[in-house]
Amino acid sequence: MNLWQHADKWGAPPIEDAVTLGEGGTPLVRSRVIGPALGLKNLWFKIEGGNPTGSYKDRFAAAAVTHLKRDGRVACLGTSSGNTGAALAAYCARAGIRCFLAIVEGAPEGKLRQMRAYGAQLIRIKDFGASPAVIDAVMAGLRGLADEVGAGFEVSAFCFSPRGMAGVQTMGLEIAEALAGQRFSVFSPAGGGGLTLAVARGVKTWGGAGCVHCVQPVGNDTIATALRAGRHHAAAMRSTTAISGLQVGSVLDGDEVIAACRGLGGTGFVVADETVWAWQARLAREEGIFSEPAGAVALAGVEQAVARGELAPDEHAVCLVTGSGFKDERSLLRMTGEAPTPLVADFGEFSAAVRAAL
Ligand SMILES: Cc1ncc(COP(=O)(O)O)c(C=O)c1O
Repeated sequence: MNLWQHADKWGAPPIEDAVTLGEGGTPLVRSRVIGPALGLKNLWFKIEGGNPTGSYKDRFAAAAVTHLKRDGRVACLGTSSGNTGAALAAYCARAGIRCFLAIVEGAPEGKLRQMRAYGAQLIRIKDFGASPAVIDAVMAGLRGLADEVGAGFEVSAFCFSPRGMAGVQTMGLEIAEALAGQRFSVFSPAGGGGLTLAVARGVKTWGGAGCVHCVQPVGNDTIATALRAGRHHAAAMRSTTAISGLQVGSVLDGDEVIAACRGLGGTGFVVADETVWAWQARLAREEGIFSEPAGAVALAGVEQAVARGELAPDEHAVCLVTGSGFKDERSLLRMTGEAPTPLVADFGEFSAAVRAAL
């Protein structure tokens, strides 16, 4: 089941126009080790790293660039902390559209190289991502510039690009379809909140008994605490998290996330960066799932829900593993250490080392 097979449920453009690389339809895999260790019988991972550019943002870019192509655009301006840029760059390359990206200051180099490989032109902007004032100024400036030069303008948030974000709703549809007839809770990592809002809308469109929780790093808690505390508005803050992809200090879709999650019975969880890195390593070693740090945030939220007594042992809980481990070299070094792979002289030394380790 890929993105376009749910076309009637998310307002997709006509399929014959689709700019597609086979996005969506990602695996929903049951936990074998971590779920039981947390006392959960039904813990699931939605593995989005299997998308063509390695993150769920391909669902966004496929929809957004299909619309740009239909609109006759020959250039696209966008913003990115890494994954949106790679996705927009790839789908623009496929559509023959030039792609210019304003990049957050701390984006990992691996993500930037991927964007350049697709031929996009990138410029990093100081304090973009961390400072809400800079984010607001860049967004307003880009919108004006796009209008002036006749380019498309794409940001992975409903408040800027609702047509592209509709494509992300398919993730919620796929989960709700797979777990139809059961009560389930989705744990979604959030920066600006567009992903969480899209998944909540997809789950709601499908109908059934799903709820969506919002999980944020302590250093980007624009939505989660407000949601848990019963407030109606997200709050901008200076972002201090080191989790790439979740450094979005301004509110963006935050108010709508609060309403949508609350409407489905969801709440907010706030987690430390160090806890996320520890779960990223455990996902790889104990489940064979290679995730970037942002993709391990949901699991940190599940751990907290269990500790708070907010997740029953037999409830179906789904973690959105939103991006591949290949995306963030720095976080891999944290997992594996800096030591180079040893080089031995011959097979005899190799087999002696294996025998000694067994
Ligand atoms: C891997 C990953 N997960 C989650 C998110 C969060 O998305 P949002 O800003 O829509 O909350 C992002 C955003 O860039 C991301 O790259």
